[in-house]
Amino acid sequence: MSSAVQPESTVRADQGPDPLAVVRGFDIYDSDTAQALDEVLDVARRGCPVAHSEANGGYWLLTRYADVVEVLGDDERFSSRGGKSIPSRQFLEMPPLDSDPPEHRAYRRLLNRFFSKGGLAQYEPAIRELARALVDRFADAGRAEILGDFAGPLTGAVLCRVILDLDDQELMTQAQLRVQRISEENTPEAWMELTGFLRELVGGRPRGRDDVLDAVLGGSIEGRPLTEEEKLGVLIVLFLGGLDTTRGAISCIVAHLARTPGLEDRLRSSDWVRTDLDEFLRHDSVVTGLARTVTRDTELGGELLRAGEKILVHYYAANHDPEQFPEPDRLDFDRGRNPHVAFGVGIHRCLGSNLARLQIRVAFEELLATVRDIRFADGVEPRFAAGVARQPERLDVTFERV
Ligand code: HEM
Repeated sequence: MSSAVQPESTVRADQGPDPLAVVRGFDIYDSDTAQALDEVLDVARRGCPVAHSEANGGYWLLTRYADVVEVLGDDERFSSRGGKSIPSRQFLEMPPLDSDPPEHRAYRRLLNRFFSKGGLAQYEPAIRELARALVDRFADAGRAEILGDFAGPLTGAVLCRVILDLDDQELMTQAQLRVQRISEENTPEAWMELTGFLRELVGGRPRGRDDVLDAVLGGSIEGRPLTEEEKLGVLIVLFLGGLDTTRGAISCIVAHLARTPGLEDRLRSSDWVRTDLDEFLRHDSVVTGLARTVTRDTELGGELLRAGEKILVHYYAANHDPEQFPEPDRLDFDRGRNPHVAFGVGIHRCLGSNLARLQIRVAFEELLATVRDIRFADGVEPRFAAGVARQPERLDVTFERV
């Protein structure tokens, strides 16, 4: 447990003399908090929806949908510069994530077309082949650890293919492990490792192809070429944004299948990605929270926020706000319109959402074509990892081959 959080009782938010103590020590890197997240956020939302946490150098925690949407929609009062994790331990700015307009627009113009549905369609056969090969490896065994055997290698391989034009299983695994360390530990060492790894890997030369890597390595914004640091920053954020997130989303959906008899059949119907995927994304909100910095003294939810202070915009909390989503902790495919913020909103809305949806669709088409009756191997719910990406720590399941 982090030193910023009070001992034990702080995560049992319903007990003790001061339930809000847990909110004042709220730390996304704390494992006990990760297990009790719904309960802790509920206490915060009811008692102090814009709360100040003393953890990790101090920051404001937002737990109401309306406040989250207000902050994400106002990039003048709430800047993205200076790092999106709290505390910020990165060495480089990572545009577009860490940039504000007008630079932000220029970076998105550089990247957007590669991540449109049309731009990604060419990768579907390769993603399917990767998914099928992974499922084939474990299908006969009747059991698998979904993060390590399926969701992790799949998302690592897809990103290496789409972003680095790279096909080396060992390098893909190394990339995955380095990103995971940042998400779970956020230590300077973890940042240094990923930065060095990618710096070495890309070597800096455009190769005359019309793809993401060349767009970044040969790219310019506002009439000047990107610096080496800027190129590296963009590549890092593509990996950080794309690995743990999609791995987590796939794993969380497998966990729903394991705990909910009959759900598998629903996902075998052809249209579930259109009708149900957004409810999974809302409920699971794999990216829990990212930072903004206050640019001028301002009022939010009755609190005075000072220029320079950090805010943790908690997407998961917003997506579980009962004012916006009745019975928010229930997976409910009949919600109708689902304005969730799992991919963020506003100018920083996820660049890779189409890639995530494509991978998730293909992953389940291949998995469910080959196995059925997925259940937790030991019959108990998995523990959730602490950190920015909320996903099972590990997910052992059993199944039958179809
Ligand atoms: C289920 C999977 C995913 C989830 C839940 C997710 C979530 C998010 C969220 C919440 C943001 C907004 C950040 C903000 O408000 O500042 C974001 C931005 C971003 N995501 Fe994703 N993401 C996913 C998959 C991906 C993938 C596959 C990529 C690969 C390219 C990616 C790349 C990015 C990038 C580059 C940004 C920054 C966009 C900007 O600042 O303009 N994400 N993502």
